[in-house]
Amino acid sequence: MTSTWDANTLGIDFGTSNSAAGVCVGGRPFLIPSEPGETTLPTSVFFGVGRSEMTIGNMANRALINGDEGRYMRALKSVLGTSLMGEKRTFLGEKMDFYDIIGQFLSVVKTRAEAACHQPFDYALSGRPVRFHSRDADRNAKAQSDLVECYLRAGFKDVRFMFEPEAAALATQSIGDEGLSLIVDIGGGTSDFSVFRSGTDGVEVLASHGVRVGGTDFDKRLSVDHVMPLLGRGALIRKEMGSGTMTLPNSMFQQLATWEQIPFMYGHDVKRDVARMQRLAVDPPVLARLSYLLEMELGHDVAFAVEAGKIKANSGDGAEARIDLSILEKGVFAPLGRDQLAVSLAEHVQDVVAAALATFEQADCTAEQISRIIFAGGSSLLRPIQSAMQTACVNAELAYADAFAAVIDGLALASAAPLKYGTAP
Ligand SMILES: Nc1ncnc2c1ncn2[C@@H]1O[C@H](COP(=O)(O)OP(=O)(O)OP(=O)(O)O)[C@@H](O)[C@H]1O
Ligand SMILES: [Mg+2]
Repeated sequence: MTSTWDANTLGIDFGTSNSAAGVCVGGRPFLIPSEPGETTLPTSVFFGVGRSEMTIGNMANRALINGDEGRYMRALKSVLGTSLMGEKRTFLGEKMDFYDIIGQFLSVVKTRAEAACHQPFDYALSGRPVRFHSRDADRNAKAQSDLVECYLRAGFKDVRFMFEPEAAALATQSIGDEGLSLIVDIGGGTSDFSVFRSGTDGVEVLASHGVRVGGTDFDKRLSVDHVMPLLGRGALIRKEMGSGTMTLPNSMFQQLATWEQIPFMYGHDVKRDVARMQRLAVDPPVLARLSYLLEMELGHDVAFAVEAGKIKANSGDGAEARIDLSILEKGVFAPLGRDQLAVSLAEHVQDVVAAALATFEQADCTAEQISRIIFAGGSSLLRPIQSAMQTACVNAELAYADAFAAVIDGLALASAAPLKYGTAP
């Protein structure tokens, strides 16, 4: 007998930057077109002033780009497991916390999948990073239970989980491939690894491991290094008491460079602090751009400009790549060459490689024994990552999965047997 789970389960990849949903049809993944012509959906939400419902995905991104009045949020997944989850704020006249916001996002994904497939989905098989939080086991556990609560608020009766890189392994296995393969799935929020072997009975996973480093961290580092100095990071202000000068507090610039913290920079207290600092600044014009950014709420626009600059610097020959800041001031940009990209990302790349090496240790194998590295996730397209992984695994050939579909393809396949592949929370 088919269990309710088997007939009624939707595979969902709730990503930091992009989400997707899918089911298994005729033994193959079928991805839900969540927006016309698109099978992945930006994990973004927008609460427009004067609207009754929040918008999500590309529509939310468009509202931000058009400068519509309202509140925009991205990288919601990074909030799971933190104390921010339960903080209530008023959106569209209603008090909501992050469980409600993520729940509503997932509920739209559910409704669209049900409309596309002409059937209800009461159960979800969700991907999850191996580690939401790298160092804190309690936070990691809380992040998963937070996500369960979000699925329940979305209207699902229950949810099971599968590690994201193991889903990617399921989708990219090729029977008959000799030797050990490594999935390197680097997304917006986390880097995840699985060492596996392809056998006649399917995928045999030897070990999975992860670290909380991803594209949003890369954006943050690039922003802090290359953009924030143009907004006043490192600038001097006169001390309010006594003589002498001091450097502007760094924490404000770190926050402004962090996708999920940007919405919290627009409160009156921050604007008041910046106005005070501008009065005290040794070189006041430097802070004028920062004031303008806060006044016009352009933090996410700048973050998108950083992300676009990163992708440009990484693509083609990377010549003349720059972070275009004309949204803040005509003609202003931060140059970002291939070398600067590599320097800014070096520490994060080291963390990624260290996590891969730790995966080999858990799998009881050596880096030399890896015969194939399969890259998945948008940030795996970064050259510094690919070359560091090739250096670490000298005998491996490099293979490229569909960066944005490998995880959801695996979850869609596994959704046909969620009790076999998914683990109960
Ligand atoms: N061509 C590219 N070069 C470098 N980075 C890219 C490229 N395209 C997208 N990215 C980055 O990839 C990230 C998104 O990748 P992806 O959609 O796989 O993440 P995600 O699944 O949402 O996140 P996670 O799995 O970590 O929760 C973003 O940080 C984006 O800037
Ligand atoms: Mg992902």
